Amino acid sequence: MIGIFDSGFGGLTILKAIRQRLPQYDYLYLGDNARAPYGTRSFDVVYEYTWQAVRYLFSEGCQLVILACNTASAKALRTIQQRNLPAVWAEEQGYQEGVLGRHRVLGVIRPTVEALSGYTRTGHVGVLATEGTVLSDSYPIEIAKLYPHITVHQQACPMWVPLIENGEADKPGADYFVSAYLSRLLAADPLIDTLLLGCTHYPLLLPKLEAFLKTCPQWQAVNGRLLSQGSIVADSLANYLLRHPDIHATCSRGGTTTYLTTESEQRFSDSAAIFLGHSISASHVELN
Ligand code: DGL
Repeated sequence: MIGIFDSGFGGLTILKAIRQRLPQYDYLYLGDNARAPYGTRSFDVVYEYTWQAVRYLFSEGCQLVILACNTASAKALRTIQQRNLPAVWAEEQGYQEGVLGRHRVLGVIRPTVEALSGYTRTGHVGVLATEGTVLSDSYPIEIAKLYPHITVHQQACPMWVPLIENGEADKPGADYFVSAYLSRLLAADPLIDTLLLGCTHYPLLLPKLEAFLKTCPQWQAVNGRLLSQGSIVADSLANYLLRHPDIHATCSRGGTTTYLTTESEQRFSDSAAIFLGHSISASHVELN
């Protein structure tokens, strides 16, 4: 089974693209909706919550876990990879040496940055993300490593995830915050021709983002593009599995998806159905 984790509903945008690309595998989705949003939480808290979730997915039989959350990828991935895998957790759980060596945790920031070069013509990129991701500077740092010629401007959008988690993404109230954050970012650099949605929740605002950008002469002049992460992460996972036959061998192939949430099962199932376009049934879990 492949584990997919997000603070809430956002990772469903990644799951959907992964399932379209790789329908043959079994997936276990975990949304920590009860504690979302993560975007304004401290490094230590995001790490702690993320590691609890990853441990849970491991204990349910996932050997490969995707952090389908930029905030967790920015603030927890490196620590989990360096501190928790493989030694400490394996010992705690009484695993024999070497067993945890097959467990992997992957994030979404690096694959997104790797895919970026094909998109910008002006060399000016805007990143829309949570406060946590912006403050971590993960995107500017990773982009500078691969493409030193690209200029990056970031905009934190702290109201977007609460709007989405509370089912307000398509309501008129969301318009103000869409326009406020996009205007600020485009005013900071009129040459931006690529806007990266650096939070997996944000594709749920796509209709409103596109509608606003249609009214921006500056954006139309550079023939700008909005970039979501779903298909990028799905391609990157397919490629990863090809390059790692040992991990590939641990992924069961039943074509199933199971949904877990730390919030109410009903609330998750209802909202997830809207995101995915079909009904699902979720189970409640406690993380600690
Ligand atoms: N989907 C998460 C991300 O990509 C949302 C963060 C949050 O919970 O604030 O960053």
